[in-house]
Amino acid sequence: MDRIFDPDIDPAPLIGKRVAIIGYGNQGRAQSLNLHDSGIDVVVGLRDGSTTAAEVQAVGLATASLGDAVASAELVMLLIPDETMAGVYGQIEPHLRPGAALGFSHGLAIHFKFIKPRSDLDVFLLAPKGPGTALRSLYVAGDGMTSLWAVAQDSSGNARATALAYGQAIGSGRAGLIASSFAEECEADLFNEGAVVWGAVPEVLIAGFDTLVEAGISPEVAYMECVGELKLLAGLIEARGIAGMREAISNTAELGALIGGPQVIGDDVRTAMRALLATVRDGSFARALSDEEASGYPLLRAARRKARGLAVEAARLKLED
Ligand SMILES: NC(=O)c1ccc[n+]([C@@H]2O[C@H](COP(=O)([O-])OP(=O)(O)OC[C@H]3O[C@@H](n4cnc5c(N)ncnc54)[C@H](OP(=O)(O)O)[C@@H]3O)[C@@H](O)[C@H]2O)c1
Repeated sequence: MDRIFDPDIDPAPLIGKRVAIIGYGNQGRAQSLNLHDSGIDVVVGLRDGSTTAAEVQAVGLATASLGDAVASAELVMLLIPDETMAGVYGQIEPHLRPGAALGFSHGLAIHFKFIKPRSDLDVFLLAPKGPGTALRSLYVAGDGMTSLWAVAQDSSGNARATALAYGQAIGSGRAGLIASSFAEECEADLFNEGAVVWGAVPEVLIAGFDTLVEAGISPEVAYMECVGELKLLAGLIEARGIAGMREAISNTAELGALIGGPQVIGDDVRTAMRALLATVRDGSFARALSDEEASGYPLLRAARRKARGLAVEAARLKLED
């Protein structure tokens, strides 16, 4: 693994330069504030009519229209939803300075060719491995979040140095910048989102809850067992790893996990995971994401409504009363 830390990163590529952050959401907010606190001149580019401008100005950052922000900057970071990037890139491309650097925090738009950047641009990836809220709180605490970096287009010959300096300015050089590629970051991230942490884990929690409730256990107890203990597991794995977590729990829990875990997550699940990875790699998922945006997010809207109505959600609300 090629990992680089602050002492080996040269901040010079960003000194005296202006960075335009396009979008002020989860990542845009955190990256703008971290850059600003690192002494970088930041302007936040927002779409016409955005109601976010007042919030940005209230924290002392400059705002501008998309075109003006891009035209004023040597480095432009696209931090808007991935599926909207192609349309926004079309709007900003005429305003990008010759030889500017264009950065992403996800590999998708470049890897699946939603965007074909102008040939004079440097194109780099700086992908923090966690949400913007944590990127910001770690930075404020004097710590940092590990990020992956990559270069897709090196017009100036300085794209690598720019990517590393950017990663340092958002605090990731404190925790380590890991060399990757747009393809690797994108495939691993999309796979995990569907097949592991954000897709499969919640489904396992819901299935476990439903199984206990169907068998006559009260919803509140089923919730505390099947959902409520997840934070304990995550904390133990973060602190000690999977092996250390198993050693930290009771013999009863450890033997239960040893017998039960592989019964539930067996070969059929691994086969399903490989199939899901194939749909990531062949671009089917990226096309579905693009179609979802084009049609006004019908699947996401319906799924959000359905999730609010689940029995597991009712149990959570009752416990919070
Ligand atoms: N979320 C994460 O935890 C995370 C982690 C690592 C990497 N990433 C990557 O970081 C990037 C940004 O993700 P995010 O979750 O931070 O995005 P996000 O929170 O959904 O972005 C919201 C921002 O994008 C703007 N925006 C939305 N649609 C737009 C459009 N059509 N034109 C112009 N601006 C638009 C919004 O404008 P308004 O303010 O006007 O509403 C808002 O400022 C993505 O590439 C994502 O994959 C995200």
